[in-house]
Order: sequence, then structure tokens, then C-alpha cells
Amino acid sequence: MGKDVIVACDFSSAADVYAFLDKFTGRKPFVKIGMELFYAEGPQIVKDIKARGHKIFLDLKLHDIPNTVKKSMAVLSRLDVDMTNLHAAGTISMMEAALEGLTRPDGSRPMLIAVTQLTSTDQERMENDLLIKEPIDKVVMHYASNAAKAGLDGVVCSPLEAGKVHDTCGKDFVTVTPGVRFADGDIGDQKRVMTPAEAKKIGSDYIVVGRPITAAEDPVAAYERCVAEFVD
Ligand code: C5P
Repeated sequence: MGKDVIVACDFSSAADVYAFLDKFTGRKPFVKIGMELFYAEGPQIVKDIKARGHKIFLDLKLHDIPNTVKKSMAVLSRLDVDMTNLHAAGTISMMEAALEGLTRPDGSRPMLIAVTQLTSTDQERMENDLLIKEPIDKVVMHYASNAAKAGLDGVVCSPLEAGKVHDTCGKDFVTVTPGVRFADGDIGDQKRVMTPAEAKKIGSDYIVVGRPITAAEDPVAAYERCVAEFVD
């Protein structure tokens, strides 16, 4: 499994995303399409970006009853995405159903990654809103091992957690880590950040990078810098 930089294309229209992607005339980045763009433009945007030669992480974070998730995953799989995700909070049986739905008739399937606890959920909210009284680190690792038990490929986590996830779930269990910033860059609203080089050192398998690339004066140069620090 290759290390790669995934560019979070958090745009709200096809026009904006194409204006951005048109700048990449050489290497085609692995692209993350989230809810904003998917809900604005529908499944066609996924097909069109795929047809331009990009790998796609479809970040829709499914969470529903197992049967609904299974059927929805079958639809997403037919869009020929390379990676997609769900909430581990949906339980092991939901994750198993998702894998079943995602598997194509020829046995191939996109990678399936679980979200553990969102980084917007802190200890206090987890205890008070969700009535989960365990320490958040323990909850994150428990959800990650549930994902591994269900047969998923990995989790989305902070780069700071990537090492521990590998210790708990095995080195082949994939860690996809947002919260990446250049050493000389603006951290924006991300609280716990790492540089691409640090993320590589700690063992992240994929970094998800948005604004340091999308808002850069020269997005292609920023992307190439990420690749140079993280992959090469
Ligand atoms: O612009 P930035 O690099 O902060 O973008 C990070 C991307 O990763 C965004 O699409 C954001 O929604 C996503 N993400 C995150 N933290 C998580 C999960 C996903 O920043 N815990």
C-alpha cells in the first residue's frame, strides 16, 4: 500500500473544483470529495473527476442501519471510487454490512476507512452529550479495533494517534490523517497539527491536506512540496 497525499477539495461547485484541478497539468493528485461538493453537484462530479484520471476518496461518513448502509455502499462502489468511509459508531455489524455492499461482483472494492470520534468531539461533549464516560483516547482505540475486527482497511485519525493505531491494530491497518500544516504555514482552525515530514515519521499512510494546498498562491508547488516531504 503506497503512501500518498490526498487533497481535500472542499469546494462548493464544479466550476470551483475544476478551476483548481486544471492547474495540475503533470501529476494528478488523489482527491477527497466531501459532503459539500457531493451534495451540490451529485454523483456526476465523482464520475467526471475520476474520468480526468484522479483517484478519489469519497468522504461521506455513512451512519445508518446496516441494511441501508450496505445498499448505499453498493451505489458508491459503482461510482468507481478508490476509498470511502463511515462512522465506527454505527457498530461492527454496520461496518461488516458496508464491506459486503462495497464489494463488486468481481471481488474488488474501494478501501473502507472508519471515522472514530470526530475531532470536534472532545471529552466533555462525549461524556455529557453522548454519555460515554471512558477517556477519549481509549474510545478512539476501541473504535479503531472494532473497525479492524469488522475487516475494514483503516481509520481516519489525527497524525498524533497514527502510531498508537498501528500498535493496536497492526502496521498494515491504514491511517488517514488530516490536520497537516507546513512548518512555516498558517494553522487556521486546526488545533493539533503536524508537518508532512512529521506525519511520515510517525507512520501515517495517507495525509489529507486541504487549505495549505487549495488556498496556496501556487497550489501545484504546495502539493509537490507535500509529496516531497511525505512520500519521496
Ligand atoms: O483545510 P484542511 O487541511 O484543514 O482540511 C482538512 C480536511 O480534512 C477537511 O476536509 C476536513 O473536513 C477533514 N477532516 C479534518 N479533521 C478530521 C476529519 C476530517 O480536518 N478529524
